[in-house]
Amino acid sequence: MAGRIPQNFIDDLIGRSDIVEVINSRVSLKRKGKEFSACCPFHNEKTPSFTVSEAKQFYYCFGCHAKGNVIGFLMDYEHLSYIDAIESLAADAHVDVPHEDSGFTNKNQEDKQPYYNILKQASELFQQELKTSERAIEYLKQRGLSGEIAKQFKIGYAPDGWSFLSDRLGTSNENLNSLIKTGLVVNKENDKTYDRFRDRIIFPITDQRGRIIGFGGRILDKGEPKYLNSPENAVFHKGYELYGLYETKQALRQIDRIIVVEGYMDVVALAQSDINYAVASLGTATTTDQIQKTFRTTHEIVFCYDGDNAGKKAAWRALENTLTVIRDGMIAKFLFLPEKEDPDTMVRKEGKEAFERRIINATTLSDFLFDKLKSEVDLATNEGKAQLANKANKLIQKMHNSLFKDLLIEELSTLVGLSQQHLESKISSASQEKRKHAQTTKPIRGQQVQNNKTRIAIALLLQNPDLANQHKVPDTFQDAFTKGLPLLYELQKTIETNTQLTAAALLERFRDSEHEKAFNILSVLQTPETENTDNINEVYKNLIERLHYEDRDEYFSHKLENNVSLTAEEKKEYLAHCMK
Ligand code: GTP
Ligand code: MN
Repeated sequence: MAGRIPQNFIDDLIGRSDIVEVINSRVSLKRKGKEFSACCPFHNEKTPSFTVSEAKQFYYCFGCHAKGNVIGFLMDYEHLSYIDAIESLAADAHVDVPHEDSGFTNKNQEDKQPYYNILKQASELFQQELKTSERAIEYLKQRGLSGEIAKQFKIGYAPDGWSFLSDRLGTSNENLNSLIKTGLVVNKENDKTYDRFRDRIIFPITDQRGRIIGFGGRILDKGEPKYLNSPENAVFHKGYELYGLYETKQALRQIDRIIVVEGYMDVVALAQSDINYAVASLGTATTTDQIQKTFRTTHEIVFCYDGDNAGKKAAWRALENTLTVIRDGMIAKFLFLPEKEDPDTMVRKEGKEAFERRIINATTLSDFLFDKLKSEVDLATNEGKAQLANKANKLIQKMHNSLFKDLLIEELSTLVGLSQQHLESKISSASQEKRKHAQTTKPIRGQQVQNNKTRIAIALLLQNPDLANQHKVPDTFQDAFTKGLPLLYELQKTIETNTQLTAAALLERFRDSEHEKAFNILSVLQTPETENTDNINEVYKNLIERLHYEDRDEYFSHKLENNVSLTAEEKKEYLAHCMK
């Protein structure tokens, strides 16, 4: 089991790395006297206020006050956990991260390791089975796949039968439990179990680090369902992962663009034709998380969906989601294939070059946006123009400020014959209204975080979301007296329902909310508590207990001062409280 990483290793690692180099490989820096500067990657701006100090090995943004060291930067920029940021830095330095045997362990990792192990073992068994199944081999051949590609994607075969995996791997209670928890084995009511994947071609799904987190299984003959996927579990979150992303990163050093397709087979067939930069969302609409994740790997995405109506709808959803995340320097395009074709059939029919030509000539986001809207209105009339302006405004409103946004407004202005200023004022007043509305409809209990302890608690939780899985905050925080506690509660709930959220992803959720600014500051707040990562669990736990105590104290005093009688339950709590 992975133990604590020795502090001296971390110190040494930070000592060896150069923050300027690490940041410059992600955000282009310009030298400015003793320091380096760039437009801040953590907020939107047109003139650079993000600075990196070589001497101090620290970055600071004068605009949004984001600040930190190289690890903090990696955590925020790459959406990594503390441990993963260290792993990433160590990988760059070509050193292995040592773990001590005892002491602090990351509980989250400890819990998940058996799942990763069992998934890996299952995948290996499936791959072995493929070698012995004539039928499965024949199926893949007939779909044009070579043994090499099957190997690259670790494609396997789950044999027919109800207990292949449970017989082979469910040899201990612990293993059987892992099989069930990862959905490989289904637990029936009477404690009987059966394998989920039977007589199916198996596509393993990997996370960014190449660990297998789930499977997709395709039926060989006709039948329902055509594809069966692993259920969501502690290590597999459909809306966050992309099939083929890890393989793309493995195949290419520099990724100029990524194409997002719909199916497993599309990814694999494209790779078979030497187009090894395709990824697929996992049977659902492409989410903003997935788009963001892809944009962290490349600056250009080409969405490629089937030429049918469902494909068009999926593309439009992707456009809407892209608008909310796109920033200058990122490009999104859309490739529509002829009806009845998908990337798999298309590339097999016409080959790599013709398909890549389609990719290069894909429709730009702005063309897709305006063409679709134009097709829905009659631009010859003022009514139609107003309709178009309204529809486009609704979409543009979702965007971060950027030159790209300005250009869309400019194009809209030419189309409908309204001045840019007029359109811009409409767009900004609409978003202001939205913000105002959010403020008046939501009680702003947690808006100002004043108590220093709450600030630190929120900072700790933002910087280490996993804490929420280890120490629940009390329910009384929901309507607490102390400012900031309801916010802490909201944060806790958000993490609880999305256990994989990284610090930066969490910030993203609160973008445009009234908490955005506070969160941005707190996410990089450095205090003795946040810096001393050795006993962060303990510190957080004590802090929560202290905050709970003080808040209840406040609550009871308030009631007693106002002669409000306590309920029987509260009386009991009050007595216990006074004994503390
Ligand atoms: P092939 O017929 O093998 O070429 O499939 P495809 O990759 O072209 O898939 P298709 O376009 O039919 O579907 C796209 C994706 O949607 C698949 O890769 C699956 O992830 C998902 N999908 C398709 N059919 C099913 C199904 O019956 N159930 C579930 N859960 N997902 C499906
Ligand atoms: Mn297909």
